[in-house]
Parts: sequence; C-alpha cells; structure tokens
Amino acid sequence: MPSLVIIGAQWGDEGKGKIVDALAGQADVVVRFQGGDNAGHTVFHDGRKFVFHILPSGILRPRVMNLIGGGVVVNPQKLVEELATIRLPESAWRKRLRLSGEAHLILACHLALDQAAEAQRGNRKIGTTQRGIGPAYADRAARTGVRMGDTLDPDYFRAQVKTCLDSHRALLPKDRAREVCNVDRVTREALALLRPFRDLIVDTGILLDTARRKGQHILYEGAQGTMLDIGAGTYPYVTSSHTIAGGVCVGTGIGPHAIDRILGVSKAYATRVGEGPFTSELHDATGETLRRIGGEYGATTKRPRRCGWLDIVQLRRAARLNSLDGLILTKLDVLDGFEQIGVCTAYRCGKKRWTEWPASPVDLASAEPIYTFLPGWKQVTTGATSFQELPAAARAYINKIERWLDLPVVMISNGQDRKQLITRRRAF
Ligand code: IMP
Repeated sequence: MPSLVIIGAQWGDEGKGKIVDALAGQADVVVRFQGGDNAGHTVFHDGRKFVFHILPSGILRPRVMNLIGGGVVVNPQKLVEELATIRLPESAWRKRLRLSGEAHLILACHLALDQAAEAQRGNRKIGTTQRGIGPAYADRAARTGVRMGDTLDPDYFRAQVKTCLDSHRALLPKDRAREVCNVDRVTREALALLRPFRDLIVDTGILLDTARRKGQHILYEGAQGTMLDIGAGTYPYVTSSHTIAGGVCVGTGIGPHAIDRILGVSKAYATRVGEGPFTSELHDATGETLRRIGGEYGATTKRPRRCGWLDIVQLRRAARLNSLDGLILTKLDVLDGFEQIGVCTAYRCGKKRWTEWPASPVDLASAEPIYTFLPGWKQVTTGATSFQELPAAARAYINKIERWLDLPVVMISNGQDRKQLITRRRAF
C-alpha cells in the first residue's frame, strides 16, 4: 500500500506520534497536511525523545523526504526553533525537508488575536493552544493571509503582510497592535527567518505524484483528531483545519484516488483537551485514574486532559467521515488494572436513544452516555507481542470494538516503547 493516511479518530492525542514514528521507517515520504504547531507528536530516536510540533515525523531519518503541505499553517519562528532543537546539520535537513508555497504563515498578530478572542469569549472560550492557529486559518479564508510562497518576492511579501496587518490593527488593544502590527518589522523579521527555506519551496502535489508513480511509500501524518475538524467536529469547539482524511487532498495537492489506505488511531479509552462536548467523560475517580495511569497531560500545552470511556457513537462517525479501513488501538495497557471497562454504545437525549451522532449541538451537549460494561483483565498486557498473547478479556474487548464498528483493529499499542506495538496486519 504505497499511500497511507494516519488520522486521529478521536479528539487528538491518540498516540499518532508513536504509530507514525514506527511507520516512518518504512516510508519514503512523510507529509503533514493540516494544522500547525498546535500538534505535538512524540518520536523516539537513538534513545532520545523528541516532540515535533511542526516538522513531519520522518525528519530524523536520512532516507525520508518530509513535506509540509499547503494545508499547514507555519509559524516561522517555531519552525526555526524546532529545527535547532533536533540538532541536525543544516545540510541534512535541507535534503529532507520541502514546503508548499501555499502553506500560510502564523505571524505574531495571529497569536495576539488568538489570545484576545479567547479572552473575549469568557466562559464560552474554546480552550485553544494559543498558537495563533484559528486567526491564521481565518486570514486564509478571508484572503488576507500571507503564504510561504509570498516570501519569494520581498516586495510582494511586504504588500501581503500590509494587507494582513491592516485588517487586524483595529481589532487589538493599541499597545498590542503597536507591538505586532508594524509592517516593516514583521516583513523584515519573517523574511530573515524564512530565507533559508526559499529554495525548499515546492509544489508538493507534483512531488507526491512523482513519488507515487515510482511506487514509493507515502505516509500522510494527521494532526489533532476527527472530532476537532472545522466542519465535522464538535463545532465551535474545534481546531480550524480539516483534520479528517479529506484534508489530505485539500492540504497537499493530490486527489482522492491517490490515497490507498486510511487508518484511524484511537486510544482504548477517550480523552479530550480544551472545552466542548465529550459525552463519555468521567468526572469521578475512574476518570482521575485514567489520567494518572495514562499520563494524560497535553504534549503542547501540558494541560490535564479530560478522560472517559471509549465512545462507539463517536468512533462510528469517525469511521464514516474518514472512510477508515482499520483502527489502531493505543494505550491498551492503561486499562490493565480495571475491574470492568465501560464502553459508551449509545446516547440518551431526553427520552430518545441515539446510536448516531446528534445533529443539534444542544442535544449533543445534553446527551447522556449509555454504557456497556465488559470485564477487565487485571493482568499486564505490556510485553505481549501478538494478539494471541493478550489476556482473553482484552481480546474480547478488542473483538467487541471491531464488531461494534465493523472495522478491523490492525495494530495495538501496549506500552510507551516503540517496540510495544502488536501488528496484526501490515499498515503499508
Ligand atoms: P487550536 O487548534 O489551538 O485553535 O485549538 C482548538 C481546539 O483544538 C482546542 O480545544 C485545543 O485544545 C484542541 N487542539 C488543538 N491541537 C490539539 C492537539 O494536537 N491535540 C489535542 N487537541 C488539540
């Protein structure tokens, strides 16, 4: 399977980093197609831990080409800082990294706007990562954005920056606007930061098409998760990009037929950071236990994650939205100590029982989970290297999930280590 998409099937933080890291070893090209440095993908390399926010997860591998597609929003400062932290010689990353000219830039004004918008929303705040993601995508849609390719002509770039900053100056407090909306300064600083990347700007669609024709393995690395999609997610408590598999096409320059396989990553339970509906959230000691055992704190913001049981209604929606071919289940070992394991199989809204996602946000906000409880296994699953080695109750749990979703579980992650990954079916 030469072109494989890995998508977060829940609200992000499903452990995609580990999966993509494992698969990057088999890939020729690794591609980010949406989001920005709001993502946090943990990768282990030569015994060191790296958390990538903007760089594709194959960057440490010499024979992998890494692409940042046009659907991504790039903070130039963060890009430069992240490249500095991985301590690769410039000659190495220059060989391995290419960027789309269509990728939009996150400027200081976008961070200021993100903070201001959140403050203004008061108790209806989104709980954003404050990385300027929403305002940068808003500029893209309003046609007041600034793109990577604009840096190729400094005069054109300055004119684009001016249009962008002119549209924001009045929206910010005066002192903040003075700080972040100075056209000359922003132009000068961004051009200086992005100068080393000018000859790395490519049409990612052409590069991907060529790679595909050569039969190369292409790995599309999703950031965030399905329920944070700007269209299909729990709007308005979403991010501002298309996190679903369709985002690959709009974010890289290839068409739907150029995708061969789509796998969704889901924890064996559920988590969410930020605000918004989360029907199977546990507000009790069980939720606290999941957070403690699962180490559920944000990779980007360190915020404690909200925790709950697996939600089949939500995952069914994810399977359909992404045309999932299979599921990768992560953090199975976190459930090892539980007496019984809950699975939300339907919602109750008033007198109605829903097995599919409610259309009304008001219904969704008031939906109560209907749980099925399955026996826990009370055994350590870490160390099992095949499905057969897992305790019978763990296998039964996974089989039930497959039946509820009508999807095969193709991989199971049962520990933090890269090797603690059971592969039932090859991903590529
Ligand atoms: P933004 O993407 O910073 O605008 O944040 C919008 C929503 O998406 C907030 O609820 C964030 O917590 C959430 N979010 C953004 N990036 C991630 C991620 O990588 N993992 C999980 N949640 C995320």
